[in-house]
Amino acid sequence: MSVESRAPLPPGIPQVFSGPLLENPYPLYASLRASSPVFQLPIPADVGAGVFLLTRHADVHQALRDARLSADRRRSHAIARNRQVLPRQVMGEEGLFRSMLMMDPPDHTRVRGLVNKAFTPRRVAELRPHIETIAKSLLAEPAAARKLDVIGEFSAPLPAIVIAELLGVPAEDHPQFRRWAAAIVAAPTAIASGTEVLAAQRAIESLNDYLRAVIAERRAQPRNDLISALVAAQEDRDALSDAELLATSLLLLLAGHETTTNLIGNGTLALLRHPDQLARLRAEPELLRSAIEEMLRWDSPVQGTLRAVTEDVEIGAVTLRQGALVIAGIGAANRDPAVFPEPDRFDVARRDNRHLSFGFGAHFCLGAPLARLEAEIAFRALLEAFPKLALSGAPISHRPNPILRGLQALEVASESPS
Ligand code: HEM
Repeated sequence: MSVESRAPLPPGIPQVFSGPLLENPYPLYASLRASSPVFQLPIPADVGAGVFLLTRHADVHQALRDARLSADRRRSHAIARNRQVLPRQVMGEEGLFRSMLMMDPPDHTRVRGLVNKAFTPRRVAELRPHIETIAKSLLAEPAAARKLDVIGEFSAPLPAIVIAELLGVPAEDHPQFRRWAAAIVAAPTAIASGTEVLAAQRAIESLNDYLRAVIAERRAQPRNDLISALVAAQEDRDALSDAELLATSLLLLLAGHETTTNLIGNGTLALLRHPDQLARLRAEPELLRSAIEEMLRWDSPVQGTLRAVTEDVEIGAVTLRQGALVIAGIGAANRDPAVFPEPDRFDVARRDNRHLSFGFGAHFCLGAPLARLEAEIAFRALLEAFPKLALSGAPISHRPNPILRGLQALEVASESPS
């Protein structure tokens, strides 16, 4: 399908990609939660059973675990009828729709089970010393120069290098992966703003070609890496098709990038905007783990995920018809006062933090242990390298993506470099 032939966008969509909502969506979530927690988006066009945004924790929690809601978004009218706006290579058969993220059982169970066998907690734990070395080396020069662009110099390259090495693709290619990943995750924004999505399409084609070559190499000569382990799992039981193997490699490469970058970026900004909490964390470093959970809750890197209603279902006393598209508002659920006392307070020592930032249920983030490990190492290294971390005064702006929430750049300075 050519991207030029895409349908015009339903009115009402582009606004969420710009302006104050991008900077701070939380007041809007709060007012929706109070007035219309199962909110039907005012998009008439041809979206059939409608598109609904959930902002209550209980409702998002239900949507993520209810088998009547499918992860295959194509089962919603909104996506089925507007498929021409999606570049096939990004969201179609050749892209992420072949990955577990958008599958239901039994395929989901089969593919996730295989990947779980290869992506073991041991494989993740073994990475610790290596991630520490990468984090320290990324910070060495900025610490000496007493200034750092947290995103460009630290939180973007760190997960990109780690996931490249884990998968077994050359880490020196990570700037290229980052460019491809950025173009691909920008696709929804490009579609919504009506600009061309060819960049995303080309990026995914190049990335798929690249991964195909790596898979062929590992098939011929296995190594101790995740792609070799997936190839072995495929050959053992013939349980993963070639297309699924490619989509899995693609998903792992993409899922680990921007999300972890945004956790470190959003988390650093939260600490800098709450100096009392930063001081407390420095004084009580044993709070680091709960601080990271609070960063995940307070400004979630993934603000929402989609589900398609496959049979009529009641959520929050509203009946959603078969074919409705549901946006499970993770970022909104994480500020729900019914679950989190004083939800707008950033508290590094918060207890009983039942945030939904890694999702819930069958699709719970497979990379959560890795993301937590990377964040723990990143913050320890950052606080050590910058004993007096402060904002540099440079303007702060968010990426134009309401789902993957993160900063364009974040410049910090140190009054007394280590
Ligand atoms: C802070 C970082 C991260 C956040 C906030 C995050 C968030 C999420 C969320 C919300 C989901 C569920 C989506 C849904 O239910 O539709 C998910 C799924 C997934 N994540 Fe992550 N993620 C992060 C890092 C990672 C990393 C580092 C990897 C791998 C290297 C990863 C791999 C995956 C995979 C494979 C899935 C699909 C699981 C499934 O469908 O069964 N994620 N992630």
